[in-house]
Amino acid sequence: MRSGPKVVAIDLFCGAGGLSKGLQDAGISVVAGIDIDPACKYPYESNIEAPFLQEDVRKVTAAHLSALWRTAAVRLLAGCAPCQPFSSYRRGVDTSKEEKWPLLTEFGRLVRETKPELVTMENVPRIGSTPVFAEFVNSLREAGYQVNWKSCYGPEYGVPQSRRRLVLLASLLGPLVVPDGALRGGPYQTVRQTIGKLPRLAPGGGTDPKDALHKSRVLSAINLKRIRASRPGGTWADWPKELRAPCHRRRTGSTFRNVYARMEWDQLAPTITTLAHNFGTGRFGHPEQDRSISLREAAMLQGFPRDYRFVRPDETVRLTHIGRLIGNAVPPPLAKAVGDAIVLHAATHTTTHGA
Ligand SMILES: C[S@@+](CC[C@H](N)C(=O)[O-])C[C@H]1O[C@@H](n2cnc3c(N)ncnc32)[C@H](O)[C@@H]1O
Repeated sequence: MRSGPKVVAIDLFCGAGGLSKGLQDAGISVVAGIDIDPACKYPYESNIEAPFLQEDVRKVTAAHLSALWRTAAVRLLAGCAPCQPFSSYRRGVDTSKEEKWPLLTEFGRLVRETKPELVTMENVPRIGSTPVFAEFVNSLREAGYQVNWKSCYGPEYGVPQSRRRLVLLASLLGPLVVPDGALRGGPYQTVRQTIGKLPRLAPGGGTDPKDALHKSRVLSAINLKRIRASRPGGTWADWPKELRAPCHRRRTGSTFRNVYARMEWDQLAPTITTLAHNFGTGRFGHPEQDRSISLREAAMLQGFPRDYRFVRPDETVRLTHIGRLIGNAVPPPLAKAVGDAIVLHAATHTTTHGA
């Protein structure tokens, strides 16, 4: 492949750095991550080795971004506005008035004001049918961008989980298409291949003395009985009646059956949510050990490398804080595939455009 000019990225809504990590793995230089949540600082800076700027994107100016990009020939503005308002878990609820809706619009504002050569945006697939997304695409086109997007199935990109994400790419340099995954059609990476070699933890939950992130939530006595009665791939309907919660006795339905459930070794994991350390909120039971998956396992199923750092060595690991960073992340292998397409595009198109 012809090598082109360095693509230099700024990551808006950077979180713990899932998107930045994948872009870096593709050879893109990431010069800053911006996020409002101070909990992102340590993971972002210690893994990405780029400055973390704790700022509200609504207050970020074009001049600030230009100073970060300096003289880069090919600038990439990357970002993943918070997805909660578009999440399918909130179907049926009018989320259009929520405070976070304008954040994609803010991303669009920064694109129009800085005109980076390249843009990438990632979100939940349902955003593709919202007016805010249509406005975002129109504003990019009006500013001269060629725009392409699609819903990407994570396993095709090497993410061992049945998760779909919408990826958008836009370029001032020429047509740029969201790539297909290299594993299209399978076989896909499984739970066993991803977390099968991690050390065992105590029944009911515990922490690996050598890795503070390999920590699973301690189950209550009733939940320990429940997980012992669960089989990989099964549901709470397999349990004896006395173990069922009152809500189990009332409700049925396939989604609801996928709580208090175990994963299967040789399958994909379910979508890793911000509560993936919690046995009661999804199919987050370990396939074989009597416990929920650990934060490390959740991070690896999200596509983070085994040694990704989320907390300082002297810091207490708080399940809800770190679980949120992990569940919110763009899976790095998906981001890498997007980054590879961007690097190839820059190499192919920049000479003719003089960038
Ligand atoms: C879906 S997560 C991004 C995940 C990240 N791209 C990754 O791959 O790890 C959305 C992020 O937006 C941040 N956020 C929410 N409101 C914000 C705002 N007004 N300004 C900056 N960041 C904001 C949240 O703290 C959260 O980290």
